Amino acid sequence: MCGIFGCHSQQSQNLVEQTLQGLKILEYRGYDSAGIAYTIDNQLKVIKSIGDIDQLKQKVINPPTTTTCIGHTRWATNGTVSVKNSHPHLSTDSSIAVVHNGIIENYQQCVEFLTKHNIKLKTPVDTELIPNMLYLLSHNKHNIHQYLQGQYVFCATDKQSNSLFLAKKGNLPLYIGRSLQTIYISSDTLALPQTVTHIIAMEDMETCEVFDHQLQFYSNGQPITKSWQSFNQSFIASDKNGFATYMEKEINEIPAIMERIINTYRKDSTIIRLINQTRTQFKQTKCIHLCACGTSYHAALILAKIIERDLHMRAIAHISSELTTTTLLNEPAIAIVISQSGETADTLSAMDILQQHKIPIIAFCNVTTSTIAKRSQTIFPLLCGPEIAVASTKVFCAALLVGCLLIKDYNTISCGNFIENTTKTLQFARKILSAPHKIPHRIFIIGKDINHVLALEAALKIKEVTYLHCEGYPANELKHGPLSMVDDNTLSIVFGDDATNASAEIQARGGKVIIIPTPNYQSDPLAFIHQIIPAQIFALDLALTLGNNPDKPRNLAKSVTVL
Ligand code: AGP
Repeated sequence: MCGIFGCHSQQSQNLVEQTLQGLKILEYRGYDSAGIAYTIDNQLKVIKSIGDIDQLKQKVINPPTTTTCIGHTRWATNGTVSVKNSHPHLSTDSSIAVVHNGIIENYQQCVEFLTKHNIKLKTPVDTELIPNMLYLLSHNKHNIHQYLQGQYVFCATDKQSNSLFLAKKGNLPLYIGRSLQTIYISSDTLALPQTVTHIIAMEDMETCEVFDHQLQFYSNGQPITKSWQSFNQSFIASDKNGFATYMEKEINEIPAIMERIINTYRKDSTIIRLINQTRTQFKQTKCIHLCACGTSYHAALILAKIIERDLHMRAIAHISSELTTTTLLNEPAIAIVISQSGETADTLSAMDILQQHKIPIIAFCNVTTSTIAKRSQTIFPLLCGPEIAVASTKVFCAALLVGCLLIKDYNTISCGNFIENTTKTLQFARKILSAPHKIPHRIFIIGKDINHVLALEAALKIKEVTYLHCEGYPANELKHGPLSMVDDNTLSIVFGDDATNASAEIQARGGKVIIIPTPNYQSDPLAFIHQIIPAQIFALDLALTLGNNPDKPRNLAKSVTVL
């Protein structure tokens, strides 16, 4: 949530433009307001705007060349969405500017400390504490972590020294990238330009000073050395591959991703070794706990059902933020955490609890350099490439396929058939479902067993991008309450052919019913994986019909790094 980008070079360059480009790529992490600060003639120039990066760009007229620039795209946590509250925030004397991700928990204590030094804050945003603390700490700034509590990363610049100052406490990511002439700072490697050849990840309790193309790191206030890792940026930021939205592009990538996963999980010797090792672990344990949030939680729910069905052992899917020590019995167990971004704070907190219980953690993760991946004992990559649209689509299918291939060999499915069936589903999706002419007041999505979980996922997708009231429900439960809401303004989508009673009950009350049939593809026990595709396309269509941007739904951000 929120994106940080910064650059520094010895020679004056177009760093303002480069920062705006970096922020544009990070925009999916938060897009309610944005801002930049750069040094010019020993002064800090700050430009901020509400809205997305394009709105900020309109305010940056004839950007000069400079040697230091920092920028931020915000997803508001404390303080409303306003120009004043957006980052960068300045110190009392306007000499230091800071962009920040995360939360400062001892806000009140810091305010009291600043008040004693006659510093009054101008906004309710915790970020504003940081430039003022740096101002007071002056030469002692590498000890900043002693004064600030919480989980945060920030990047600061000041008007005279022509340097950047970085700090990290806790789990949030911050990377430093190096090209021939420029040092880049980014909260996500996706935004690093293709000229970057090496990176370093900031770690917990570190600070770093970037000056004259040199880095000086400190850990807990003591100087340390760190080495560069080689890096190859394969992502091309603006590439929607001819599609109007990332969401459409990403849904259309599903067949190719399914093929990549099947080939890799059947042929790559490292992955095969990990699969065998994990299956042995499964045999030695009593229970598998799956933890995740949102769409990844829905993948966890389905995989828990498949583990119980195929391995005849206990598997429990937990919403990460609901996992407590009391939910974990004192018995041999293994955990699977599922995360697209690998940075979800609720899932990282669940991992703390799992680790306290000494439960080994296996991660299904799309971003293999992420914090969740780093903190897990075993990583199964989801191989989807960057997922930019806030609504997760391709990664849901990938997590299900990776999970199924880990649980069982599924030798009966041929890669060719499976891909053909995925493509068929994608092609027929529009015929099964298209945005209704009359927008319904409410939508129910129902199904039984795995289809019930698909209904939950379809409902989440529709809610995210259409803002309509939509609920996923077990088919037979409708008559135990929610049926009272069904009228001729209600649309119901039914997953599978086994919910005929519920469909009839809806229709009898004037509700419109659309059925997504269970595919009867020959010898394809995993056909349910691509059955979600029609619902994803339906959500996309409906969002576009309503004039919403499905890639950037209101109030949301792609990776949820706050608790
Ligand atoms: C999915 O469409 C959502 N954007 C959201 O529910 C997401 O799945 C959830 O925040 C978990 O994210 P993660 O997979 O990156 O951990």
